[in-house]
Amino acid sequence: MERPALNVLIVEDDVVDRMACRRTFASSQDAAFTLLEADSGQHGLAVAQQGQLDCILLDYGLPDMSGLEFLSQLPQSGPPVMMLTGADSAMVAAEAMRRGARDYMVKDGEGRYLTQLPAAILRMLREQRLLDGKRRAEAELRKLAAHQESIREDERKRIAQEIHDELGGLLTGIKAYIGVAIERAGGKADPLLSEAAGLAQDAIATVRRVITDLRPSVLDQLGLWAALEWHAEQVAQRSGLRCSCRIEPDAAELELDAGRSTMLFRVVQEGLTNVVRHAHASAVLIDAWRDAAGLRITVADDGIGITEERLRNGASWGIIGMQERVRHFGGELQIVPGEAGGTTLRLQLPLDGLEGTA
Ligand SMILES: Nc1ncnc2c1ncn2[C@@H]1O[C@H](COP(=O)(O)OP(=O)(O)OP(=O)(O)O)[C@@H](O)[C@H]1O
Ligand SMILES: [Mg+2]
Repeated sequence: MERPALNVLIVEDDVVDRMACRRTFASSQDAAFTLLEADSGQHGLAVAQQGQLDCILLDYGLPDMSGLEFLSQLPQSGPPVMMLTGADSAMVAAEAMRRGARDYMVKDGEGRYLTQLPAAILRMLREQRLLDGKRRAEAELRKLAAHQESIREDERKRIAQEIHDELGGLLTGIKAYIGVAIERAGGKADPLLSEAAGLAQDAIATVRRVITDLRPSVLDQLGLWAALEWHAEQVAQRSGLRCSCRIEPDAAELELDAGRSTMLFRVVQEGLTNVVRHAHASAVLIDAWRDAAGLRITVADDGIGITEERLRNGASWGIIGMQERVRHFGGELQIVPGEAGGTTLRLQLPLDGLEGTA
């Protein structure tokens, strides 16, 4: 089997340790190592910046910085780092792993760790490849979900339009014909005709409701904030919940694009559906304002509250879906216990590129 060619940087101020490492790599059968050497943190960071490294071996105690400082200055997309620590530094190793090191080895005085070093590097790189693959797959899945979401939204719009044009038109026609027939009968009309007129009117109202449930036209015509106020009113009417909106002027003046508007509307809609279905609340308040982080929206109810357990239990697809939608636009969504009881949905959306608003 062909040996992989690997570029390894060792950041180590002890010249004897570097030499020992050089010797180990030169005689290794596991891989064709090319060793680059740096005797300080700054030097190491400069070499790392030039790229082309497969991994970094990092000593903890460098003359100009600690290994932990080195890790925090290394870009996240940098090569995987194996920490080389002293014999009694389990805590250091754990901290290094938390700060982004992929693995660690304990240096013993006699240099026995060196015999295991090549195999340990190969194992770390294998794990790194698996992790990269997983991350790529997750990113792809996320893209796919967002794409399907936008297809679904277009589809809803199209169906709403079709029902409106076809069915809505027909029903209005039927109702008009019945009206004319009643008028022509001049007081002697069959009472069944009035019945039929009533039914046609009910059907028209139902069609209207189905259409707005599919895609409220107010969202396209008047924008997100009017749509949220309209929807809050609908929820209040249908569920008996007190439901109000407080949109601060700095949020109201934002000109959000169609993608963000739809996302925010769907998320608040889903949040309100949850309140109606699960919270046993008597009131819910939607707040929207701006701060340094961007746009903030909260949906706070005064219901039974939410526990970590309930959130984790079962497949919370509703909440996961909301979180994914918000993440797609670089935002974040949390469901937390409300400050005065109940449950609060907290949404934060960065506004980069939307700052030049009306
Ligand atoms: N406002 C709330 N108050 C109390 N519990 C809530 C609230 N919102 C969500 N929950 C709890 O969190 C769980 C997960 O919510 P989620 O929306 O993910 O799923 P769901 O509403 O049960 O199903 P669906 O997939 O149809 O949305 C709910 O089943 C409920 O127990
Ligand atoms: Mg739900």
